[in-house]
Amino acid sequence: MPVNSLKQLQIFLEVATEAALAGGAVLQSYWGKLDDVQEKGRPGDLVTVADKASEEAILAVLQRHFPDHSVLAEESGTSGEPSAEYLWAIDPLDGTTNYAHQYPFFAVSIGLLINGIHQVGVIFDPFHQDLFRAAKGLGATRNRQPIQVSQTSELHRSLLVTGFAYDRRETADNNYAEFCHLTHLTQGVRRGGAAAIDLAYVACGRLDGFWERGLSPWDMAAGAVLVEEAGGTVTAYDNSPFLIQSGRILATNGYIHEALSHELTEIKPLAEFSPR
Ligand code: IPD
Ligand code: CA
Ligand code: CA
Repeated sequence: MPVNSLKQLQIFLEVATEAALAGGAVLQSYWGKLDDVQEKGRPGDLVTVADKASEEAILAVLQRHFPDHSVLAEESGTSGEPSAEYLWAIDPLDGTTNYAHQYPFFAVSIGLLINGIHQVGVIFDPFHQDLFRAAKGLGATRNRQPIQVSQTSELHRSLLVTGFAYDRRETADNNYAEFCHLTHLTQGVRRGGAAAIDLAYVACGRLDGFWERGLSPWDMAAGAVLVEEAGGTVTAYDNSPFLIQSGRILATNGYIHEALSHELTEIKPLAEFSPR
């Protein structure tokens, strides 16, 4: 990797950390003080002044260090060429619904795609002061201590997490059937409400696996690096290579990956909760 040496990736990681801490400080400053929460499209898809201010703080850091890099940010969209060598995928507040309800499970998520491949990721949960960092070939850490995925090797002993996208009322592919089915087969399926933290928790072994559909690159880029660098596996549901544009991800500790992939490809949508 001549152009992006480990030293170069370390620099990207440090800047991503600076940006995530800046965004996290903004989220902390607005915590519990929101008086204007708006829906930005589908029912339940919220945006607050905190999302926007966090994004501004993150972009200011990235712009200062890497003015030539492209950006894909949830609230302000794309700047620069999306197919550029360096594309930052930014979620300034993952878990907006939680945040708006003062349910303390939310984070800043910043990933760097280099030639389309996720290679650097930082997820910062300012409420719990959990800082997750990873870069390809440099390992994964939580609060600067190395982390690893869990060793759970059987589905019936596993604790999983998933989520339901904002289009869940519009499609039969709403993940309800998968949730019910896997709730039966495992020790439980959590619904955290912040995909980036779900992935970070798989990376540090608090959870054994995560799957979800309907996600955006900014939800997954950083977390995918974390899981892989912590020794886990990230693919599409059917175990084919992970494509960040697909919106679907299966991320596990590796040991339960095939079994979970098998279940996900077998499950049929629930007729009862399909759109009417
Ligand atoms: C959402 C969260 C949630 C997931 C949704 C995402 P947001 O992101 O990650 O867990 O289920 O699909 O859109 O809107 O809070 O940034
Ligand atoms: Ca998100
Ligand atoms: Ca968000």
